[in-house]
Amino acid sequence: MTITFHLNDEEVVLQEYDPSATLLDFLREDQGLTGTKEGCNEGDCGACTVMVTDKAGSKPLNSCILFLPQLNGKSIRTVEGAADADGTLHPVQNAMITHHGSQCGFCTPGFVMSMVTAHKNGATDHDVQLAGNLCRCTGYAPIIRAAEAVEAQPVPQWITKEPLPAASVSAAIPRSSDALAARYAANPEARLVAGATDLGLWVTKGLRDLGEMIFLDGCDDLKQIENSDHEIRFGAMVDMNRVREAITPLHPSYGEMIRRFASQQVRAAATIGGNIANGSPIGDNPPALIALGARLHLRQGDSRREIALEDFFIDYGKQDRHPGEFIEAVSIPRQKDRLRVYKLSKRFDQDISAVLGAFNITVNDSMVSAARIAFGGMAGTPKRAAHLEAALIGQPWDEASITKAMAVLEQDFTPLSDMRASAEYRLETARNLLMRYFNDINSDTQSVLEVQA
Ligand SMILES: Cc1cc2nc3c(=O)[nH]c(=O)nc-3n(C[C@H](O)[C@H](O)[C@H](O)COP(=O)(O)OP(=O)(O)OC[C@H]3O[C@@H](n4cnc5c(N)ncnc54)[C@H](O)[C@@H]3O)c2cc1C
Ligand code: FES
Ligand code: FES
Repeated sequence: MTITFHLNDEEVVLQEYDPSATLLDFLREDQGLTGTKEGCNEGDCGACTVMVTDKAGSKPLNSCILFLPQLNGKSIRTVEGAADADGTLHPVQNAMITHHGSQCGFCTPGFVMSMVTAHKNGATDHDVQLAGNLCRCTGYAPIIRAAEAVEAQPVPQWITKEPLPAASVSAAIPRSSDALAARYAANPEARLVAGATDLGLWVTKGLRDLGEMIFLDGCDDLKQIENSDHEIRFGAMVDMNRVREAITPLHPSYGEMIRRFASQQVRAAATIGGNIANGSPIGDNPPALIALGARLHLRQGDSRREIALEDFFIDYGKQDRHPGEFIEAVSIPRQKDRLRVYKLSKRFDQDISAVLGAFNITVNDSMVSAARIAFGGMAGTPKRAAHLEAALIGQPWDEASITKAMAVLEQDFTPLSDMRASAEYRLETARNLLMRYFNDINSDTQSVLEVQA
C-alpha cells in the first residue's frame, strides 16, 4: 500500500514498508530524526510527540503508537522542523530556554512539540495541553511559564503553512464507509485500525502480528457529528477531543470526564468507535453512553442494524459483532441533562479508571420515575445496575431511599480486586457515588476539580 506524506516540508512516498511499523521507529531508524525520543513506547509519556496536520487542523500525536498508513495525505512536523530552515528558533523553543524549562532534555522535544501545536491552535489551557507530557525533573512551573510567555506571540510563518500532499490511493485505506464496508465484508479476518491507541500497544508491547489491516482514517464520512432535534450522532471515527467539544454543552459532566480520558495526544487519536469496539470493561465512554440510552449503529456490507449499546457487550472479550461488521456510529437521544459521570482513578490526569459511574435519574413530583445507571470497572463488561435502578424507581427522591437502594448494589456486581483497586473499594465507592449524585443534583456541585490538590 503506497502512502504519501510530508515530513518537515519534504514529500515522502513509501511503497515497500511494514504497515505495522510505527512513525517513531521510522523517524529514528529510517530518517535519522532522533530528536523525537522513545520513552515508554506506549502512549503514556509524550517524549515522542510530533505535530500532525490534516484537513481538520493540527494535532499533537504520540508517534510511538501511530502506524505509518495513518499518515497518508498528512503533514508531520518533528522537533527538527520546529525551528526555521535558517536556524531561527520557534518562540516556544526560545521561551523554554529563557524560563529554564529543561534539565535532562529527554522529555523536552515532546514538550516542545505539544507546545508548538497548542500555540498554533491558540490553546492556552496549558495544564490540559501538557498532561500527556511527563517531566520528572524540571517540575512543570518553568514549562508552564514558557507556554504562557508565548501566548501572545504570532505563529511563525513556517508553522502556519503546512501544505498537505494528495493521499495515495490504496484499498487498505478506504476513502469512504461504503468502500470500507465492501473491503471488510470481503476480508472479515482483517484487523480494523482506527486511532491505534489500543492496537499500537499490541505491537509495541505485545509484539503481536496484526495480520491484514484496514485503516479507517481515510473514511471522512465516519468523522461526522450530526446534531438534530432528537439526537446527536457521532461517526465511529470521531476522536475523543471532538467528542468532548460536542458533548460538553449538552452534558457537561460527561465532557469534564473526557478531559481526564488519557491525554491530549491520546484523545486526539483515540476514537469513540474504538473505545466501544474494544469491549474493555474499563473503557470510559460506554457507561456514560449507556446511561444516556445510546444506540449503536452497525454495518456489514450493505446491511445495517441498530442496537441498544448495553446489548453490544455480551461478556468479557465478547461483543455482539458479526464477522465483517463494523461500528458506523453511536447516537444519543436528546434529553434534559441529568447525567453525572464520576471517574475514580489513582491519578487525576492520564489514568485508567478503577471505577466509573454514570447516573441519569429522572425525578417527577419528588418521586423517581426513571433511572439509567451504568458502571465501568465493576464487571467483565460495562454494565447497567439493574437491581439498583429497580430499587430506586417509584421511590421518593430522598436520602432514606438512596441509602436503602445503595445496599442492593452487591446484587448487581461482584467486582474483582486488581492493581487498580480492591473488590471492597470498588463496591463501596460505587455505592457512595449514588449518594454523591443525590447531593450533586440537589446542590449543584459538579466539578471534578474539587478533588484536585
Ligand atoms: C496512554 C493511554 C491512556 C489511555 N487512557 C484511557 C482512558 O483514560 N480511558 C479509556 O477509556 N481508554 C483509555 N485508553 C485506551 C484507548 O485510548 C481507547 O480505548 C480508545 O478509545 C481506543 O480507540 P482507537 O480509535 O485508538 O482504537 P484502535 O486501537 O484503533 O482499535 C481498538 C479496537 O477496536 C476495533 N475498532 C476500531 N474501530 C472500529 C470500528 N469502527 N468498528 C469495529 N471495530 C473497530 C479495532 O479493530 C481494535 O480491535 C488509553 C490508551 C493509552 C495508550
Ligand atoms: S514514547 Fe512515551 S508516549 Fe511515546
Ligand atoms: S527535562 Fe527530562 S525529565 Fe524533565
